[in-house]
Amino acid sequence: MRALDDLPTPELPAGYRVRAVRGEEDVAARVAAHRAAWWPSRVTEESYRAVMGTWPYRPELDRVVEGPDGRFAATCLIWFDERNGVGELEPVGVDPGLRRRGLGRAVCLAALGALREAGGRSAVVYPLHGHPDHPAPAPLYRGLGFREHARTITFTAPEARG
Ligand SMILES: CC(C)(COP(=O)(O)OP(=O)(O)OC[C@H]1O[C@@H](n2cnc3c(N)ncnc32)[C@H](O)[C@@H]1OP(=O)(O)O)[C@@H](O)C(=O)NCCC(=O)NCCS
Repeated sequence: MRALDDLPTPELPAGYRVRAVRGEEDVAARVAAHRAAWWPSRVTEESYRAVMGTWPYRPELDRVVEGPDGRFAATCLIWFDERNGVGELEPVGVDPGLRRRGLGRAVCLAALGALREAGGRSAVVYPLHGHPDHPAPAPLYRGLGFREHARTITFTAPEARG
């Protein structure tokens, strides 16, 4: 978790900019970016419209990094619990061909800044930790100033393993 009082300013490579999702006009590009980052993904334009219609979704907390070609290279959606002043980052994704250029960091910082503007005081995220196939998330969030406050350990019965 991380308090929001000392957020660094997002920095992007030339030609990239970060902005909020504008609604229906962005659905196709938003879904394409999610599917690229999370391939293979079950998310469709229809299912994403359902996400956008789900409380407490807010387009200003759904941030994208737009590339020079107009495609979305990185995305970060925050779910804001107004009562507790806490936002949860879920999910964060970057196009596999554009990783390790600071886009993930930038899109998270922009979304965290928007969360603070909306009245948020802190943020949480639940990354995989120590998983050999997913080395990036924990260092990303640590580098963003998040600190560990809880850990979930999942026990899976052998017959339930996929
Ligand atoms: C996690 C993810 C969003 C990172 O995006 P990114 O744009 O490559 O990240 P950045 O370039 O901003 O990297 C910021 C820091 O994260 C860490 N990091 C990023 N990729 C890493 C990797 N493969 N291994 C170890 N650390 C990594 C580094 O500390 C990096 O800083 P550095 O480049 O100065 O060393 C991206 O790998 C991704 O989309 N993965 C699949 C989806 C996912 O797992 N999302 C997170 C869900 S919680």
